Amino acid sequence: MKAVALVTGTSSGIGLFTAVQLAQAGLAVVATMRNPAKAAALKAEAAAVGVELDVRALDVQDAASIAACVNGVLGDYGRIDLLVNNAGSGFLGTMEETTFEQLTQVMDVNFYGVWRVTEAVFPHMRRAGSGRIVTHTSIGGLIGQPFTDAYCAAKFAVEGFMESLAPVASRLGIHVSIVEPGPVATEFVATVREKLGQNQPTEASAAYTTMRDSYLAASTQVFATAQTGADVARVIVEAATAEQPHLRYVTSDLVRGIAGRKYVDLTGDSIIAMTGSRLG
Ligand SMILES: NC(=O)c1ccc[n+]([C@@H]2O[C@H](COP(=O)([O-])OP(=O)(O)OC[C@H]3O[C@@H](n4cnc5c(N)ncnc54)[C@H](OP(=O)(O)O)[C@@H]3O)[C@@H](O)[C@H]2O)c1
Repeated sequence: MKAVALVTGTSSGIGLFTAVQLAQAGLAVVATMRNPAKAAALKAEAAAVGVELDVRALDVQDAASIAACVNGVLGDYGRIDLLVNNAGSGFLGTMEETTFEQLTQVMDVNFYGVWRVTEAVFPHMRRAGSGRIVTHTSIGGLIGQPFTDAYCAAKFAVEGFMESLAPVASRLGIHVSIVEPGPVATEFVATVREKLGQNQPTEASAAYTTMRDSYLAASTQVFATAQTGADVARVIVEAATAEQPHLRYVTSDLVRGIAGRKYVDLTGDSIIAMTGSRLG
């Protein structure tokens, strides 16, 4: 019987390519999304390469939806061998421009969502004595980026969660890996910019306008050489299928260069100089 993978957030971007590439690698893939009516692009990509996917509903912000999906998969397949925590969503704004409600939403999708789905799948893997959990964080989960205070906080939280779980899970036969992409050309940036347009101007906004414009211009340049969703999906498949998977996978040389600073400069000074240089 094929190993069974459950992937979250497969309606677009990296999750879409991950679901398809895992199926190409020979796994039975349950491709989940919060609204299965958005599965057309995923199905077209799967058909183009001749693989089949089992598309199911799962909203990482809704515990009942997670339970229904996980129990349904266990009922139908009897196992989940691989969980890919891919679903996530960005948010742009420094602390003063972020309402507590927005912070809660960012944490809910990017951190609590990962916690909820992992918590739902983990007992099954523990009882089976095997399994793999591959979770997206970001370079923003290692190094804070200007104007992404809430998003980076959520991704740092995911890093702490998975790095803490990994050694314990390993004793139970479960491999835990974290995948850290830099810029990737997906729907992600458009979604973030769309949300920015919805923010109400406040008294604080004026203090940040020039810095934010510089940061957005610098980000546009960085994203000009972004990886594709398919590139990053290949790294996820590598983590999911390696005989002895690593805890941490960075997806490009760009990320490798930036992430390296965290480990060689324990003062953090060169990191602030680097990220601050994008503020004009
Ligand atoms: N793009 C980048 O530069 C980049 C860099 C580093 C890390 N990442 C991470 O990579 C992951 C995938 O992002 P992407 O770049 O592929 O962006 P994307 O194209 O926007 O895809 C995000 C996916 O997450 C789904 N999602 C959002 N909220 C959800 C929820 N409550 N429940 C279930 N699914 C939900 C979206 O579904 P809907 O269609 O329903 O919204 C979509 O399928 C994210 O965790 C992101 O933080 C991205």
